[in-house]
Amino acid sequence: MKNDSNEKNTGTSPVTESPAERLLRWYDANRRILPWREDPTPYHVWLSEIMLQQTRVEAVRDYYTRFLAALPTIESLAKADEDVYLKLWEGLGYYSRVRNLHKAANQILAEHGGRMPRTYEALLKLAGIGPYTASAIASICYDARIPAVDGNLLRVFARMTGYDGSIKADAAKSAAREYYLTIFPESRCGDMNQALMDLGACICLPAGAPLCGECPWAELCTARSCGLEQELPVVPAKKRRLIEEKTVFLIYYNQKLALRKRPEHGLLAGLYEFPNAPGTLDRDEAVRFARDLGFTALRLQKLPAAKHIFSHREWHMTGWQILADEWEPFAEGSPREHELFLADARQLSDVYSIPSAFGKYQKEIRMDYL
Ligand code: ADE
Repeated sequence: MKNDSNEKNTGTSPVTESPAERLLRWYDANRRILPWREDPTPYHVWLSEIMLQQTRVEAVRDYYTRFLAALPTIESLAKADEDVYLKLWEGLGYYSRVRNLHKAANQILAEHGGRMPRTYEALLKLAGIGPYTASAIASICYDARIPAVDGNLLRVFARMTGYDGSIKADAAKSAAREYYLTIFPESRCGDMNQALMDLGACICLPAGAPLCGECPWAELCTARSCGLEQELPVVPAKKRRLIEEKTVFLIYYNQKLALRKRPEHGLLAGLYEFPNAPGTLDRDEAVRFARDLGFTALRLQKLPAAKHIFSHREWHMTGWQILADEWEPFAEGSPREHELFLADARQLSDVYSIPSAFGKYQKEIRMDYL
């Protein structure tokens, strides 16, 4: 399919055209050119759908290309070391996504001879693949007639039908799926899903800002005909986030920087971080913290404050840079033996994946100290 039509959506279309035909005609003329749409193999579509969960298209583009350059096949992903795929994901967030990709790649090798399964039901059994992703892959790769109901499709559905229940409730998903099944075409189902995604992302915008003048479905839309474009969809207010204060340490010793691995479970599991402590530590407390890790602090300098917002919590951080002139590591066999290690400049850039929550302090690293 080409995107070279000069046809603009003017709202004028053959009288007999169905809603799906009208939307697909709009899609053919206006669809976004995205790397995963150019060569939609099951692996490519799967990877892109996982990356696009909770992440904007523009942020995904480069990660997608880099990931595939390093791990071009399902088999290469299955065989990759943890530090390799975590590094490729560094900065994208929600790291359980890439752990599940790796797990699912191994399931595909073990149970499907290395080929992505073709049915919605079999896709659902893979790690990290829920109803949305299974629908997206099955429709885009195998033309399964299944609406891939995500936030975009929910918003479009609520406005098109005047649905005034909360779109966060499960009932909204079921209602949206039912509605779309009444208008889905018999073929081009992957394009239909992607047309709806593009309509939601580019025209039927959230927060009361839809571009109805450019919408191929404007004349069919209940919200528009009732003047409810600003009121719908109904989105309940979010819960307040938990605020956590933290003090982050850049500790240099012997031309290396202190790092530690986060626990295998919970937030940012298994990733690497700069040593840090709860609360806002003053100079004396910072010296004591470094001493507890075995460092004798030679020089301390305050680092700027930083904030990182997760979905359910916020970290409000301060930091200290510490030059240490001695380090006594934890004794071999002690429960703290693996709590801390030193990394050189190459390991920091190529090996250890440090989440973007620490991005501000990553930028403060003094390469001339390494
Ligand atoms: N968001 C999630 N999947 C997408 C896709 N295939 N195209 C555009 N945006 C998306």
